[in-house]
Amino acid sequence: MKSLVILISGRGSNMQAIVETAARENWPVSIAAVVSSRPDAGGLGWARERGIPTETVDHRDYASREAFDTILAQCIERYSPDALALAGFMRILTNDFVRRFEGRLVNIHPSLLPSFPGLHTHRQALEQGVKIHGCTAHFVTAKLDHGPIIAQAAVPVLGGDDEATLALRVLAEEHRIYPWAIRWLLEGRLVVEKGVVRVKDVDASNTAASSQSRISVGS
Ligand code: GRF
Repeated sequence: MKSLVILISGRGSNMQAIVETAARENWPVSIAAVVSSRPDAGGLGWARERGIPTETVDHRDYASREAFDTILAQCIERYSPDALALAGFMRILTNDFVRRFEGRLVNIHPSLLPSFPGLHTHRQALEQGVKIHGCTAHFVTAKLDHGPIIAQAAVPVLGGDDEATLALRVLAEEHRIYPWAIRWLLEGRLVVEKGVVRVKDVDASNTAASSQSRISVGS
């Protein structure tokens, strides 16, 4: 049985998608813990109700990023995770932390990387007028939002979209592709060669998804 730790900071809908997909598909995995950087994260209650151990390492209790990451890493290590999934975890991690978990540490980012790293990705997409937007499941490396890409899903940007409508369309795809990426990681099927991920026994086209069979250009 593999062990997975999920890190959240907020409502935790990606966490829910991972937990529910794992249960539905009978993954041989134990959700060892959900760890939050905020005591008021909505996702904590959801996890507790399902009997998943929860922990909070409140970033406001630590004077520096290094101090926070040291305690966070100690908290995570107690669960000896095979994989560590950032799911709306809103803290930038130190290089030491990333190195410690590199290869086991993945993230879901709400844009088609390498476009729009960082925050406010939906706003950036609207401001740039892109016609296709989406999300990326990727390995975490020291450079923020630049790790090897595991899977991506695209959605159209429609004429009347604002940040909220676009975020919702992207979120539905996050919930679809992030569990795939974590499952492949736990199954040992992700091979990284020169920064490029190959998924063993999966056709490359299955690491890409779109919310509609036809991506509309314009609207
Ligand atoms: C998601 O859009 C995720 O990609 C981004 O923050 C949001 C978190 O949502 N990093 P949730 O907490 O998983 O519902």
